[in-house]
Amino acid sequence: MAKCLLLLLLVVLSSLLGLPQALECFQCDRVNTSGVCVSGGGTCQTQGGQQCFLRKIYEDGTLSYGRQGCSQLCTPMKLFNPSVIVEYKCCHDSPLCNKF
Ligand SMILES: *[C@@H]1O[C@H](CO)[C@@H](O)[C@H](O)[C@H]1NC(C)=O
Repeated sequence: MAKCLLLLLLVVLSSLLGLPQALECFQCDRVNTSGVCVSGGGTCQTQGGQQCFLRKIYEDGTLSYGRQGCSQLCTPMKLFNPSVIVEYKCCHDSPLCNKF
């Protein structure tokens, strides 16, 4: 109960202070290995607890493609599979920080 009230207070306070601030991020469904967005390019604005993310997909040890956007789910992680490695990074320190 006390935790709920505290959380509510934080939400109210952060909206009063205008935090967290919306941040502009690169958005792209598919970035090729030259760093060129080949599908679904643009930018997005973070909302709420979102951050900019950059995901890099390696197949058989070589960089295959990337993906950029705004996301709520931002646990830095690496997923391993015998042939595919997904590197997931998030940032919120500056606009367009999720450069490929
Ligand atoms: C990435 O896409 C650009 C534009 O279509 C193209 O010129 C470039 O050769 C591509 N790079 C790779 C590694 O496929």
